[in-house]
Amino acid sequence: MLSEKLELALNEQITFEFYSSYTYLAMAAFCESSDLSGFANFFRVQAKEELDHATKLYDYVFQKGGTVILGEIAKPKEKYDSMLDVFETGLNHEREVTKRFYNLADIASEEREHATMSFLRWFIDEQVEEEDNFHSILKKVRRCEGNPAALYLLDDELAARVYTPLNNTNN
Ligand SMILES: [Fe+2]
Ligand SMILES: [Fe+2]
Repeated sequence: MLSEKLELALNEQITFEFYSSYTYLAMAAFCESSDLSGFANFFRVQAKEELDHATKLYDYVFQKGGTVILGEIAKPKEKYDSMLDVFETGLNHEREVTKRFYNLADIASEEREHATMSFLRWFIDEQVEEEDNFHSILKKVRRCEGNPAALYLLDDELAARVYTPLNNTNN
């Protein structure tokens, strides 16, 4: 069973994962409009992964006998100055997500809710990868500044990203 506080915090995170998905879909649209379809592909895949995160949390709340109440999804930022701006915003967004999972883990730990602490471990580990992913592409984008040809090479690289569904029952 989940405490009211933990159930509410997990529910808020479900909505935030949808917001993450929405944010990345808006970034995909910006990239598409900028004729960078490889970058757009990267964000389309990212948006799908965020939906998987929401579903993983959703399933867990029910598994623990709780209830899911979905919140409002805020309008995502739609205009960016540059691809550098996109990736700086993306990295900051992932850092914010990490903070949220740390906060969730703090609540679970205070309540000695060991099952939830163990469940949250997956997300905390995943965030290391998420931040690293954005940070490494951000560094590459920085190197492409003032060099559109290099940006198009990076666009080709990002076109290769493939979505792999998360197996929500076994992960
Ligand atoms: Fe996520
Ligand atoms: Fe993420």
